[in-house]
Amino acid sequence: MSKKGLKIVTIGGGSSYTPELIEGFIKRYDELPVKDIYLVDVEEGKEKLEIVGNLAKRMVEKSGLDINIHLTLDRREAIKDADFVTTQFRVGQLDARIKDESLPLKYGVIGQETTGPGGFAKGLRTIPVILDICKDIEELCPNAWLINFTNPSGMVTEAVAKYTKVKNIGLCNVPIGMRSGAAKIMDVSLDRISMDYVGLNHLVWATNVYLDGKNITAEVVEKMAQGSSMSMKNISNYPWEPEFIRSLGMVPCGYLRYYYQMDKMVEEAISDSKEKGTRGVVVKKVEEELFELYKDKDLDIKPPQLEQRGGAHYSDAACSLISSIYNNKKDIQTVNTVNNGAISDLPDNVVIEANCVIDKYGAHPINIGHISPKIRGLIHVVKSYEELAIEAAVHGDYHSALQALTVHPLVPSSAVAKKILDEILEQNKDYLPQFK
Ligand code: G6P
Repeated sequence: MSKKGLKIVTIGGGSSYTPELIEGFIKRYDELPVKDIYLVDVEEGKEKLEIVGNLAKRMVEKSGLDINIHLTLDRREAIKDADFVTTQFRVGQLDARIKDESLPLKYGVIGQETTGPGGFAKGLRTIPVILDICKDIEELCPNAWLINFTNPSGMVTEAVAKYTKVKNIGLCNVPIGMRSGAAKIMDVSLDRISMDYVGLNHLVWATNVYLDGKNITAEVVEKMAQGSSMSMKNISNYPWEPEFIRSLGMVPCGYLRYYYQMDKMVEEAISDSKEKGTRGVVVKKVEEELFELYKDKDLDIKPPQLEQRGGAHYSDAACSLISSIYNNKKDIQTVNTVNNGAISDLPDNVVIEANCVIDKYGAHPINIGHISPKIRGLIHVVKSYEELAIEAAVHGDYHSALQALTVHPLVPSSAVAKKILDEILEQNKDYLPQFK
């Protein structure tokens, strides 16, 4: 790609994360000549789009760079001739998230935005929309790259890979969060730490941790056994059982707490939802505060308060990925992409989260081979759940949906799966035309 003056389109442009994206492009302007950024949203998101879009304009103006910010509700018009399309939308806004998080708790099952039935519901709402966006991309900018960070990111990426021709890479901030957690534990700077990752989105382990290239996995694991933790803004941090973490011998991502510490996490989610509301309720307040700040006409930078959100650094990872594709960098980044044999124990056509070489042709996963039986079973069962959930989302197939939820390791029985499924379909009926 040698083109100068890139066109970037961001679907869900009214998101509170947008200032980070704009900052990322401004920072990289010398290597990534972005000319036009189209922030696209839907009617319900119009007000937020205007507020955050005007902040984006002030940020660009301050930078003095020749970048144009466009705000629009016309997705097709925006997508036309785009070079990169990024997606950060939330179908049904935060109210749908709060319902996703609350419903499973009634049955003593974890209520979480991406893990378990909550993530399943979000997938059902999101996948048809992303496929629709992909139709537009196929028609109006077939050479563009889709960089997705809409959750559930792994499943969304897999649906796009299986059902469209769009060039597509999925992103998450968890891998970089794990590296910065390890850097903190070791009291060193982030650039000195690297990791080998194995797994799926929000189900990933660092099998090796390196400091300046030296393998320090055992040391990091021992520190975790002694109480050091890698905290995430949106997930509680119970200390790991020392013998458990020593015997695992690798670093689990924060989301694995929902599996390894299920009882505690469910208990806490239930009491939190009674005392202060689910994470979605908390985030809604944080968002209101952020948008109040964004309205300030004197604000022309990304405010530090955005760090309160679990997804901080997502957009920066997106900009760095886009730059590696554009500049054919052949560097290594951790992204979601099609397995293609990298993990020998999984089908070729499923999406994994792995270290990949990034060049102008996309993401090429580095070979992993076979995986340890300590984590293989869990990866298998969650991947089966994901494959079934994608089928359900694409075809509106009730039976695939029921099998998906039943097979999920956090759902105790087929009877509970059915009750949760029926309620999900009922409470989301406006967003799930595929099930009609
Ligand atoms: C983490 C996850 C993201 C998720 C975010 C939620 O960073 O990796 O996938 O979107 O947390 O954060 P929030 O502030 O919305 O709870």
